[in-house]
Amino acid sequence: MSTNFEILGREEVDDLEAILSITNTDVDEIVHTVRAHSDALFTWDYERSRPALVKLYEKAKSSQWNASTDLDWSIEVDQATVVLNNIAQNQMIPNFDLTGTPFESWGEDEWIQLGIESQNWTLSQFMHGEQGALICTAQIVETVPWIDAKYYAATQVMDEARHVEVFARYLDEKLSGHYPINAHLRMLLDDIIADSRWDMTYLGMQIMVEGLALAAFGFMHQMTTEPLLKKMLRYVMADEARHVAFGVLSLQEFYQELSGPEIRERQEFAFEAAVRMRDRFLQQEVWERMGVDVREALKLVVQDDGRKVFQAMLFSKIVPNCKKLGLLDAADGWLRQRFTELGVIGFEDWVDTGSEYAALDEVAKDREARTA
Ligand SMILES: [Fe+2]
Ligand SMILES: [Fe+2]
Repeated sequence: MSTNFEILGREEVDDLEAILSITNTDVDEIVHTVRAHSDALFTWDYERSRPALVKLYEKAKSSQWNASTDLDWSIEVDQATVVLNNIAQNQMIPNFDLTGTPFESWGEDEWIQLGIESQNWTLSQFMHGEQGALICTAQIVETVPWIDAKYYAATQVMDEARHVEVFARYLDEKLSGHYPINAHLRMLLDDIIADSRWDMTYLGMQIMVEGLALAAFGFMHQMTTEPLLKKMLRYVMADEARHVAFGVLSLQEFYQELSGPEIRERQEFAFEAAVRMRDRFLQQEVWERMGVDVREALKLVVQDDGRKVFQAMLFSKIVPNCKKLGLLDAADGWLRQRFTELGVIGFEDWVDTGSEYAALDEVAKDREARTA
């Protein structure tokens, strides 16, 4: 049984000092190397024996889209206007007392700049996360022993290349600056890629990272007033719903063969991933760039009710999917206890993502609308 310290490197999950002590010190690096320890597997069994994966693969082939032609890149984006429109539409006016805080002297200009930096940061992290997905999925093509899963994963590699492409292009053409990868996100991606067990790649990427991405993209899609980003997110989400389904369908089968201690290791990995992703959403780099004291700013930020709701909501796909995989209640409910402490167990009975992708086929809907 591992302790919090062994899993996370700290005893208290909410230890702010420990979280902030993890920073990206290689902000100028161009190439980042991770040693993968996994075997590449051939299979000589070409039988299409997994109908749910066959169906998903067929759907993936017909749902490909082209980032160059299916999105209208001529739409002009004025970031300050987008920030103001988003605030107006979503009534996001902070209403607590800022006296004696780093924000006391802030006027409208600083708040708008914070909104702009937040956009730059958020889209940058999405882009880096998408590259993580690209690498993980290419790895799954090699390591998974089932032919149907190799076929499906190959379509996901193409999807992820397209996702990196759209976020990179949006950042370059429409926003005003990149951020390097957040250290918590990088730690998590490194751990997922380095693990030698093929099912851990799925758990880390398809269930945890992509489950969170699906919720975060959905939130941003709902909040944004910018039409290009809105359509881009709608298309990316349709792909992500398939990816999470791929994880659920594959692990559901595989976990049936695992022993109690092996399942416990999966629970610990899911918990570690959950905490790393939660840590990254403190967006510590944004506060640095805004020139405010990060600790003072975060003391205030963590109290904000809107933020708490947002942070919990990020787990709205992960928790039901973990439940469907049997990870919540195995090993005396170890993960249920951890998710309860993180304040996210309330999502356990929300809809899981094993079949949600069918309703989210945005590309097919748009094609039908065009031919009608
Ligand atoms: Fe993606
Ligand atoms: Fe994905």
